[in-house]
Amino acid sequence: MESLVIKGGSSLKGQVKVSGAKNAILPIMAASLLSAGEVVLSGVPDLEDIKVMSDALTILGARIKREADSLVFDGRYIQSCELPENISRKMRASNLVMGALLARFGFAKIAYSGGCAIGSRPVDLHLKGFNNLGYKVYEKGGFMVGEGKPRMGREILLDFPSVGATENLIMAASTIPGITIIRNAAREPEIIDLQNFLNRMGAKIRGAGLDLIRIEGVKQFGGINHVVIPDRIEAGTFMIAAAITRGDVFIENVANEHIQPLAAKLREIGVEIMPTSTGLRVIGSRCLRPTDFKTMPYPGFPTDMQPQTMALLSTIKGTSVVVETIFENRYMHVPELRRMGAEIKVEGRVAIIKGKDQLEGASVEASDLRAGAALILAGLFAGGETRITNLRHIDRGYENIHLKLKSIGADIQRKL
Ligand code: EPZ
Repeated sequence: MESLVIKGGSSLKGQVKVSGAKNAILPIMAASLLSAGEVVLSGVPDLEDIKVMSDALTILGARIKREADSLVFDGRYIQSCELPENISRKMRASNLVMGALLARFGFAKIAYSGGCAIGSRPVDLHLKGFNNLGYKVYEKGGFMVGEGKPRMGREILLDFPSVGATENLIMAASTIPGITIIRNAAREPEIIDLQNFLNRMGAKIRGAGLDLIRIEGVKQFGGINHVVIPDRIEAGTFMIAAAITRGDVFIENVANEHIQPLAAKLREIGVEIMPTSTGLRVIGSRCLRPTDFKTMPYPGFPTDMQPQTMALLSTIKGTSVVVETIFENRYMHVPELRRMGAEIKVEGRVAIIKGKDQLEGASVEASDLRAGAALILAGLFAGGETRITNLRHIDRGYENIHLKLKSIGADIQRKL
């Protein structure tokens, strides 16, 4: 079985470049279904989740080819609106095609994606939203089925600012005549990128990034070229890599605005963060302080940075408290960090970390994408050798992370 083998203790130094954002690309790929023209997405890393989404769109009849770091998408020949279980079970985000299929064809039949390590991942907010838009949506034999052609826009409100539900509903509303309003929308930067992509294809959407989004329906969409935003979670992972190794790293291709929630918390800890016009310099000085944080919808502290930040807090003497408010089971990295000597106590949604000035390398398993990233970061700090398995989780969201870390001084190998 493939594993990452890390010999910790080196302070990382040098420059590393961030790739395009996985969580912007996936909804934008789904939105490409709306276009009858050619769409070219640039800055697309070679990730497992993106391959799965490409497979899903190909099953629907789209033609996709990769040209270097671009995906070329042709949606003229879509001949199906049904996504089978073998695809939707591989990746929850495949349910994002439902909104686009409803908007373009008035029909969608998507197998339930099921849960994953971090939670049950229900889609009730998506289904309720589609119904409130005027589509007829029901469950049948393990499938979500939607159909209809709403004749006019409505005002809907999300019970929770769900990222995926906001994205799905924006796409579903993009061809409904008149004005649709989505209240209590998620405000993540990836939703702004989706709005910009759709508007460049001919949509009329305003308000992404705020909690009220206004969509004026249009009849058709053209093809465009689009460069996706940088991945703020990959950037955050490298920021923690610099901090946990007490190193000095320049991270290139970062949207400074998007990493503010994490940067504010890291500055509280004592990490020096200096933004420039092309990225940011991160210095993990020797005297870092414990802190507390609670994950919240954007612009709060991102849940996707919780495991990585917990790894950092495990190496800072003193007590830190973490509250995970977004997912019900996002502490799968804790038992693995404990195997490396971390002192962490979990009570429901609360984790209490007693940081130490040393951890010991161990054999550990990645349980999900960001838990795997946390184990890599802990391995960079720990004495001795850390071996990480279940790399398929890490490959879902990081392209060649071992090569990027090696380029800034980490002793890390990917071994069969
Ligand atoms: C997106 O997932 C991201 N994935 C996640 O990143 C991220 O953690 C999450 O947003 C929160 O920021 C992609 O963008 C592909 P949600 P999503 O709907 O859309 C509950 C990563 O590591 N909920 O905002 O699925 C849900 O169970 C991944 O890159 C409902 O109850 O997140 C969760 O507790 C992990 N009903 C909370 O809301 C619904 O219908 C937030 O989920 C939908 C969601």
